[in-house]
Formats: sequence, structure tokens, C-alpha cells
Amino acid sequence: MSFSKWVVLVFVLHLFNPSLVRFCYGSSSSTGFSDIPKKLLDVAKKKEFFDWMVGIRRKIHENPEMGYEEFETSKLIRAELDKMGIKYKHPVAVTGVVGYIGTGEPPFVGLRADMDALAMQEMVEWEHKSKIPGKMHACGHDAHVTMLLGAAKILQEHRDELKGTVVLIFQPAEEGGGGAQKMIQGGALENVSAIFGIHVAPKFPVGQVFSRPGPLLAGNGFFEAVISGKGGHAAIPQHSIDPILAASNVIVSLQHLVSREADPLDSQVVTVAKFQGGGAFNVIPDSVTIGGTFRAFSKESFSQLKRRIVEVITGQAAVQRCNATVDFPSIPFPVAINDKDLHAFFETIAGDMLGKNKVGIMQPIMGSEDFSFYQEVIPGCFFFLGMHNETLGTMENGHSPYFTVNEDALPYGAALHSSLALRYLLEFQPKISTPVEKHHDEL
Ligand SMILES: *[C@@H]1O[C@H](CO)[C@@H](O)[C@H](O)[C@H]1NC(C)=O
Ligand SMILES: *[C@@H]1O[C@H](CO)[C@@H](O)[C@H](O)[C@H]1NC(C)=O
Ligand SMILES: *[C@@H]1O[C@H](CO)[C@@H](O)[C@H](O)[C@H]1NC(C)=O
Ligand SMILES: [Zn+2]
Ligand SMILES: [Zn+2]
Repeated sequence: MSFSKWVVLVFVLHLFNPSLVRFCYGSSSSTGFSDIPKKLLDVAKKKEFFDWMVGIRRKIHENPEMGYEEFETSKLIRAELDKMGIKYKHPVAVTGVVGYIGTGEPPFVGLRADMDALAMQEMVEWEHKSKIPGKMHACGHDAHVTMLLGAAKILQEHRDELKGTVVLIFQPAEEGGGGAQKMIQGGALENVSAIFGIHVAPKFPVGQVFSRPGPLLAGNGFFEAVISGKGGHAAIPQHSIDPILAASNVIVSLQHLVSREADPLDSQVVTVAKFQGGGAFNVIPDSVTIGGTFRAFSKESFSQLKRRIVEVITGQAAVQRCNATVDFPSIPFPVAINDKDLHAFFETIAGDMLGKNKVGIMQPIMGSEDFSFYQEVIPGCFFFLGMHNETLGTMENGHSPYFTVNEDALPYGAALHSSLALRYLLEFQPKISTPVEKHHDEL
């Protein structure tokens, strides 16, 4: 993003954010607001509505597309928005779509879904199995797109009740491609003062949601290092410089960053997940490539890890007479931090819909999500939507080739998205007088 765009963005945010106040309606039940989430869930559970969502989800599941290649998925989304009569911007970040429902006036509230699949072979045998070899929706992003389209349909039907603008953000490339960042650069957050995101969760019960205020998901970076020695005959090691042994020592030394240098109460991870080198039993290779991930819950811990990874790899390689170069091949994901007020608001809405005992506080997890890019710019709340139903047996975690989606969760996602947006616009109205007064003060 160019500097001038940032200035505009910062200015726009400054204009809207500080002036937002949550109206106090006293007992919300007396206004009827607290009934909205339950009513919308009923709408989303209606057979016709449910079947429509299931159809969309299965179509996307059959045709998984990788980050920035979600052309057919994007086309399907736009076709559905066209049918609903919802205006949108396209393309944003190659395949991204940004839809608008409501008055076109502030406040603006964002709802986000990611569209990309993973490079892996689906192992589940069922009627709507991935038709693309080596590609699979194994993280549930097919469900995320479907739930946001479901919310779009509900919100468009209620457009006359919207006291502002809902911004539907369909983003590409969540799985490491930094799609969220490109969506922001493309203006997806223009005027938006809060954003919500859902991830399906196979280990939580269907009909329940989980999140937490503050840090929820770790900051995540990837590293890759080439450790170079001198190849030769494996029986005459004195004529070689062995990069395999050097890389092995590097990997052991990297373990000390978390076990000996990090505060035990400040969760961090360094994992070497890639080790490539050598191809024969009797040849010492010239070089070895290693790579992995590092994660932390604060900017300070994250940059400390990053700095020490370089030092340890180059220093430890040098001990064994090897040279090493270290690369950070992708943009790191920031820590996903839920805004406290928005989380409280989410708890209210989800509680109204599901019952307070179905809204849980979860521990932070070391997984990461590029939703955190939005949360760096505006307040956001990310939460997990349960999918597990005991009668259907155990469900595999995301990124497993046996991952499945319980489609019974789709109405909950659609209803939560739409309730959060509708209620946000009702309850967080801009204070009209504030900007004017400010100008007078400054003059
Ligand atoms: C954002 O607000 C400005 C000022 O009201 C308006 O001109 C612009 O069209 C809005 N942007 C979007 C995407 O609605
Ligand atoms: C390491 O780099 C130095 C300086 O470029 C070079 O002289 C040396 O041969 C390299 N060693 C290995 C094992 O590649
Ligand atoms: C769990 O599955 C059973 C059997 O399909 C169904 O009757 C029940 O309603 C499901 N529970 C939820 C919460 O969806
Ligand atoms: Zn994933
Ligand atoms: Zn995901």
C-alpha cells in the first residue's frame, strides 16, 4: 500500500472509530433486539435455506482452488450476490469480492470469509469429494464462504432494518498467502469500524461457539535455511564438510530458544518441519535445506525469536565449518487479538441466539490466522463455531486429509454473522456531533 493510501485509511479510521458509542437501550429485551439472533437462526435452519447452503458448500468443496486462484469460487460468490441484488467490488486482491448491504452510510461493519483450499489429497470417500487431485478444502473455508453467503441473503432480506452498512469480505489466500493484507491494501476496510470472522471447529460441539478477549491465536513466521558444506565420498569424511551433521546440530540448538531463552509463561514455538538433503547412502551432499515455523504471542517475543533463529543457524553451522543463509519466505502473520468490547458484544449476541451456556471462553492456541491483519487495523473479533455431533462419530482436525464438515453448523454461522452485523449497526451508532465539535476546538 502506498503511503498516501495509508494516510487516507488512517484518516478515515480516525474519523469513524473514536466517535463510535454503544447506545444504551436499557433492557435490550424491551426493544426486541435480543430476539433477533434466535429469529435469524430459525430463518437459516428452514429447509429451503439450509438446502441452498448445503448445495453451495458441496459445489465449492468439489472444486477446491488454491490461494489467489479461487476464480470459480469467486465467480460462484458473485453469481449468488447478483441473484440477491447485492452490489460488490471485484476484483480485490485478484479473486477477492467485497459486497455492500445497507444504507451506504456509517457505521460500516465487516464480515469476513476466506476462500482458499489446501494442496493435499482428500481421503474421505463421499459423493461430493474433491474433483481436483491434490487439492482439498481441508480447513473448512468452503463452509466459511457458504455461511457468509447465507448471512448475505438474510441481511439483504432485512436491508430496510440495517442502520448502516454491512461489508462482506470474501478474501483469497488465507493459508500463508497473506490474502487479508492484500484485501486491506485493496480498500476492503474502507470506513469499516469493526470486523467479525468465524472458523469452523471440529472438536467443539455443534450449536456452541468459543473465543476469548485479548490474544487468541499466535503470531506466525516461517523460516528456511540452506546449510552449505562440501560434498564427497561418505567413506572419506575428512575430505568433506558434512552439512547433514551441521544441520542436525542446528536443529538441536534451535530447541534451546524456547526451552532455555523464552519465559516459560510466555508461550512460544520453534518447529523444524522440513529437512532436505542427500540422496545416496554413500555420498555426503553439498548442502542441506531446513525450514519451519516460529510462533509467539507478543511482537517482542516474535522479533526476538526471529533474530535468534538467524544467529543460531549461522553460528551453529559455522561451528561445523559450514555456511548458512536464512530466509523468511512469507510475510509473518501478526498475533490475533480480540478487542475486549467486541468480544463482549459477540458474547451477548451468541448468548441471545444459543443460550449463555453455549458460549465458551477458550485457551489461546498456537495456530494462526491472517484475520489478525484486519485486527491490526480495526477492532475485530474472531471465534470458533462448533461442528461436532456425537452421533456422527469423531471428526478430524483441520488440514487432515480426513477432515469433514458437519453441514448442520452452516445455519449457525449464517445466523451469527448476520446477527452480529445487524445488532452492531443498531447498537454502535456514530456520535454525529463529535467531529464537528472537534473541528471547532482545533480552529
Ligand atoms: C467511505 O466514506 C466516504 C465518506 O462518507 C464515502 O465517500 C465513500 O464512498 C465510502 N466508501 C465506501 C466503500 O462506501
Ligand atoms: C563459506 O563462505 C566463505 C566466504 O564466502 C568461503 O570462502 C567458504 O569456502 C565457504 N565454505 C563453505 C563450506 O561453503
Ligand atoms: C446430532 O445428530 C443427530 C442425528 O443426525 C440429530 O438428530 C441432532 O439434531 C444433531 N444435533 C445437533 C445439535 O445438531
Ligand atoms: Zn487452515
Ligand atoms: Zn482455516
